[in-house]
Amino acid sequence: MTQKKVSIALTGDRPTGPLHLGHYVGSLLNRLVLQDTHKQYVMIADVQALTDNFENPEKIRENLFQVACDYLAVGIDPDKTTIFIQSMIPEIAELTIFYMNLVTVNRLQRNPTVKTEIQQKGLAKKLNAGFLCYPISQAADITFIKANIVPVGEDQLPMIEQSNEIVRSFNRIYKTDVLVEAKALVSKIARLPGTDGQAKMGKSLGNAIYLSDPSDVLAKKVMSMYTDPGHIRVTDPGKVEGNCVFAYLDAFDTRVDEVEELKNHYRKGGLGDVVLKKRLIEVLEGVLGPIRERRKQFEQDRAYVFSVLKKGTERTREAAQETMREVRQAMRLDYF
Ligand code: TRP
Repeated sequence: MTQKKVSIALTGDRPTGPLHLGHYVGSLLNRLVLQDTHKQYVMIADVQALTDNFENPEKIRENLFQVACDYLAVGIDPDKTTIFIQSMIPEIAELTIFYMNLVTVNRLQRNPTVKTEIQQKGLAKKLNAGFLCYPISQAADITFIKANIVPVGEDQLPMIEQSNEIVRSFNRIYKTDVLVEAKALVSKIARLPGTDGQAKMGKSLGNAIYLSDPSDVLAKKVMSMYTDPGHIRVTDPGKVEGNCVFAYLDAFDTRVDEVEELKNHYRKGGLGDVVLKKRLIEVLEGVLGPIRERRKQFEQDRAYVFSVLKKGTERTREAAQETMREVRQAMRLDYF
């Protein structure tokens, strides 16, 4: 067995849908590495998912199971990684309340991730306090376990920055070093565009390829992928930059030299989109095929999946209670 460092990694995903390739390159791959070198916690963020889905608890409940299946299928190993459910750790909610005093409403409104999401999801007119404050709750997610490394996609950087601000305020105000600052671990592939060419792949954007997509769905999504609208005839020179198919080949095709040749050929003209898309389908099938197979087995064994979540959640709670004791002491709330 590899020597585990004292370092603690934590991440999570909102169970608003099954996980997609953006999650895969953004942080799942890093988690597969970290589970051999760090103490790692992976959280299913159902509380955060509810902030803009509070009217659909069934949706979150079902997707919590789907996300758990995705984790296990990609190879997150419950013997190495503790997988837990956010809403089952009341200490996270408790910490969130304490942290609320340390963050101005103004600061929350300036959080770039929240701003973008409010815009994308059209939440401006019905912005509830829960959604606006989810960066505070995310700071509680990161700090309750004293995580110092957070493997995430680059869109989450402002969240970690805000969390670290809270850590510094808390430690300064309560004259303590209980809370620990965290570093983001951003993947080499900063972000994967959506199949429509938009900068970000997202469930709510309808441009995602899911780990659970069957072969025919995967093929269809690739065949309709955004390439270069100026590349009309095969003989036309084509653009590689901003072309989704190349972005995906860069991310997943390990034959780097061949991909470079294809890029040159495409730029010169004479290489059709269909040839490239067929190659991409093959490459993605190679990645997703085995995941899809394993996933099917977990999907059929709800009892096993929930036993993993229950064990992970119990283990997490013990650690949470330890941090809470220290926090209460620092805040002079340790009455008896
Ligand atoms: N905000 C993350 C997302 O939307 C999910 C998340 C919740 C998270 N809590 C976290 C990520 C703590 C990292 C650390 O995908």
